[in-house]
Amino acid sequence: MAATTFDSLNPATGEVIESFPRSGAEDVDRAVATARAAWEEWRLVPAPERGNILFRFAELLRSEKPALSDLMTREMGKVKAEAGGDVQEAIDMSYYMGGEGRRLFGHTTPSELRDKFMMSVRMPVGVVGAITPWNFPIAIPAWKLCPALVCGNTVVLKPAEDTPLLAQRFVELLHEAGLPEAVVQIVHGFGEEAGEALVRHPDVPVITFTGSRETGVLVTKAAADQLKHVHLELGGKNAIIVMDDADLDLAVDGIVWSAFGTAGQRCTAASRVIVHRKAYDELQRKLVVRAERMIIGAPWEDATEIGPVINKAAVEKIHSYTEIGKSEGAKLLTGGERVDGAGFYYRPTVFADVEPQMRIAQEEIFGPTTALIPVDSFEDAVRAANSVAYGLSSSIFTRDVNKAFAAMRDLQTGITYVNAGTTGAEVHLPFGGMKQTGNGHREAGQAALDVFTEWKSVYVDYSGKLQRAQIDNQ
Ligand code: UN1
Repeated sequence: MAATTFDSLNPATGEVIESFPRSGAEDVDRAVATARAAWEEWRLVPAPERGNILFRFAELLRSEKPALSDLMTREMGKVKAEAGGDVQEAIDMSYYMGGEGRRLFGHTTPSELRDKFMMSVRMPVGVVGAITPWNFPIAIPAWKLCPALVCGNTVVLKPAEDTPLLAQRFVELLHEAGLPEAVVQIVHGFGEEAGEALVRHPDVPVITFTGSRETGVLVTKAAADQLKHVHLELGGKNAIIVMDDADLDLAVDGIVWSAFGTAGQRCTAASRVIVHRKAYDELQRKLVVRAERMIIGAPWEDATEIGPVINKAAVEKIHSYTEIGKSEGAKLLTGGERVDGAGFYYRPTVFADVEPQMRIAQEEIFGPTTALIPVDSFEDAVRAANSVAYGLSSSIFTRDVNKAFAAMRDLQTGITYVNAGTTGAEVHLPFGGMKQTGNGHREAGQAALDVFTEWKSVYVDYSGKLQRAQIDNQ
C-alpha cells in the first residue's frame, strides 16, 4: 500500500522539514465539494469586498515577508534576496488584483436598434483547480489565486510536493486575511494522484497549471473529455542575444543574473546566449570569470549567490545534460560538476561552441547551465533564437535602436527584454509564452482575468416592442 504521508526536505541539507498527507481522489472529492458549495455564496460577494480581503492578504504577506523568505530558503533553497523577491511578487499581485475588485471592467457599446442597451460583463466560472510548481512557491500561487478569487471563483490548490509547507502558510494567511475557509482548499501530494483527480473532477471547470511541457500535455488530455478551460504555463529555452555593439559588461551582468539566478530554475532562465562572433571571445572570458567567482553556499546566508537545486533528481538531470553537451562536441568552459557534501548543489556551467540544434540548446535543463552559440549576423541570431519549441522569454543586448525594434517584432516569445536579461517579469503585464510554452493564455496583468472569467453579453431592450436585430432594419 502506498504511504499516506510524504516528506518535505531541505535541499541544502537533505534533512526532513515536515511530513504532509498524501492526498488521493477521495480527499480531492471532499475539497472540491466544499469549494463548490462555497462558490454559491462567494460569487455573490461584491467584488470590491473580495478585493479588500486581498488587500489585507497583501498586508499580512508584507509583515510575514521575513519569515516566509527564511522558510523559502530552507524548503526550496532559493537564496535570501531572491526569496524576498518571490514573496514581494505575491504582495504586488495581491495589491494589483485587490484593485481589480473595483474594476473588472466590461464594455458598453451602442446598439444598432433604438431603445436598447448592450454590455459585456465578466462572470466567475466556479471551482478553479490550481496546480503550482516549487520554483516560485509563494509568487505563483498568488498569480493564480488572487485573480481567481477576485473574479468570484473558489479554488482547490494542489501545490508541488517539494514545497508543501510554504503553500500551507500561503493558504493560512489567506484565511487569516478574512477569506472564508471553504473558499480555498488545499490538497497535498503528487501529480499522478491528487493532481490527476483534480484535473478530472467534473465539478472543476477551470484548470491552471504551471510545470513541465510533458505534464502540460497530460493535463490537456485529461481535461479534454469535459472540455475544461485549461491554462498552461510550461517550459522555456530562453535566449539572450548579444550583438557586437552591445555593452558587454552589462550583457554579462544580465547573463549571470538570468542564467544562474535561482540556480537556473526559472522558466524564464537564460539557458542560451547567442553571441555575435565579433564579441564572442571577450564575452566568453568575462562570463567565465564571473561564473567562477559566484559564491555557492547555504541559501539562508546573506553572501550566498547560488543555492542548491530542488532535489536529487534535479542534480542528476542537470548532470546528464553536461554529459550530453560533451558528447555532442560542445566545449565545457566551466562548471559541469556537482558540489561535494550534503545537499543538492551544482556548479554554474557554461558551454561554448554550441550549435543551435544540439540537445543542450533545444531542451529545458532547469539548472545553472547555459550554452554559448556564436553567430555571424542579427538575422542568424534571430533564427537561432526562434529555432526551439518553446517561446517564453528572450532578450537582446544592442545599442542599435533598429535592431532592438526588429527583435521585439521577430523574436517568437511572449516576453522580450531589451538590454536586460530574460527574467524579471512584473505582475501587471501578461506573463506567458508562445509556441509550446503554453496554450495561448496568459497569467498576470489584465490577461489573467480572461482565464478566470467567462464573458457574458447582455442585451436590454426598453422599447416595449419586439425589435429584431439584423432583420429588415436597413
Ligand atoms: C517562473 O519561472 O515560472 O520573470 C516565473 C521572472 C519571475 C517569474 C518567473 N518574475 O523570472
